[in-house]
Amino acid sequence: MDRDRAIDALVRFARVVSDTTTRREILPLLADAIHAHVGATGVCIVEIGEASGARVAVARGVPEGALALELDPDAMGEELGVALTKACGDVFTGAETRPLVASGNLFGAVVMLFREESAAARLLELANGFIDLASIALESAAQIEKLERSHADLRRSHEALARTEKLRALGQMAAGVSHDLKNILNPLSLHLQVADRAILREDSAEARESIAEMKQVVVRGIETVERLRAYSGQSKESKAELVDLDRIVREAAGIAKPRMAATGHMLRFAFELGSPSPVLADSGELVSALVNLMVNAIDAAGSDGKALTMRSGEDEGGSFVEVEDDGPGMPADVEARVFEPFFTTKGDEGTGLGLAMVYATMQRYGGVITLDTAVGRGTRFRLWLPRPPA
Ligand SMILES: Nc1ncnc2c1ncn2[C@@H]1O[C@H](COP(=O)(O)OP(=O)(O)O)[C@@H](O)[C@H]1O
Ligand SMILES: [Mg+2]
Repeated sequence: MDRDRAIDALVRFARVVSDTTTRREILPLLADAIHAHVGATGVCIVEIGEASGARVAVARGVPEGALALELDPDAMGEELGVALTKACGDVFTGAETRPLVASGNLFGAVVMLFREESAAARLLELANGFIDLASIALESAAQIEKLERSHADLRRSHEALARTEKLRALGQMAAGVSHDLKNILNPLSLHLQVADRAILREDSAEARESIAEMKQVVVRGIETVERLRAYSGQSKESKAELVDLDRIVREAAGIAKPRMAATGHMLRFAFELGSPSPVLADSGELVSALVNLMVNAIDAAGSDGKALTMRSGEDEGGSFVEVEDDGPGMPADVEARVFEPFFTTKGDEGTGLGLAMVYATMQRYGGVITLDTAVGRGTRFRLWLPRPPA
């Protein structure tokens, strides 16, 4: 083979081998190139295994028997050629062995087996060229494998994170629902006591009034459970219907009022309702949201609390409801964090979920919640919802 053909073979080998990305592809290409161009009748590429031992990974032109051979990983030099020649039943008259090194590690060896008597027919320079090119390809294949492994690791930890995130959301949701249920069960038990006393007094008018209140509260309880089912995907999403905000405000006030007796903070409820046009939302969720705002205002008020004002109206693009108190207001560091889940200044008494849930509800209906507060001047929350499409 002349020089030009040798260079041509090298260039072609460089081209195909640089397209490969795995060791499994590189070794057969190397065996083929040596087998075709170097004048070796037999080629064995020996690979040192991960655990221990070495074996022939790829072979060309050698009897089957040589392939099953258990080889010594510490004998990758001349001894290897001798061992393989012997395993091939001495059909070969000479062997040349070259180490296969990739990324600084001895990876195995290439054994070329010759039959020709004349050593001149052996193009060992060319063989060295093929082996060097294969080493480079093996190195980059190792890099790619490493990259793919770390990519897979990354994906796994990403998935684990997503799972944790889901669990956290589930925990928040469970806490939120129990918070809602508490807001329902407390007024229920208070109305029950009122009804009980009214019956003792034989005041059936008052008893009936309490029972009517209880009925409404129970309906809200059922809706809360429905919402839990909606979250868990077993039921339809929360139902969006046209909601009359003024009706919702009065209903929420009825549920929140008993909280005053429980805290001893007696507030005067004032209504400044402007019959805004209805909005598209789930009425149960809006009642819950307003109850949360009212209960917070009652909690914050001092024992000589004054007024809690509920206001409704319309502006440019939609309708709004406001809940305003003249309580203590919030310092800036509290104001900045009130919508964070689990942020509470009430210690064990609070869940820190009320406002986070109100916020989530507003997001769901494309609404906006705004907060206006100053220490000593009270707090006003506004829930704004867009006008439904015609
Ligand atoms: N009307 C209000 N006046 C003063 N502080 C308030 C008012 N509403 C909410 N806050 C503050 O926001 C915090 C978070 O409220 P919320 O999310 O409902 O959780 P929780 O009521 O369980 O504390 C409260 O702990 C309180 O510090
Ligand atoms: Mg609250």
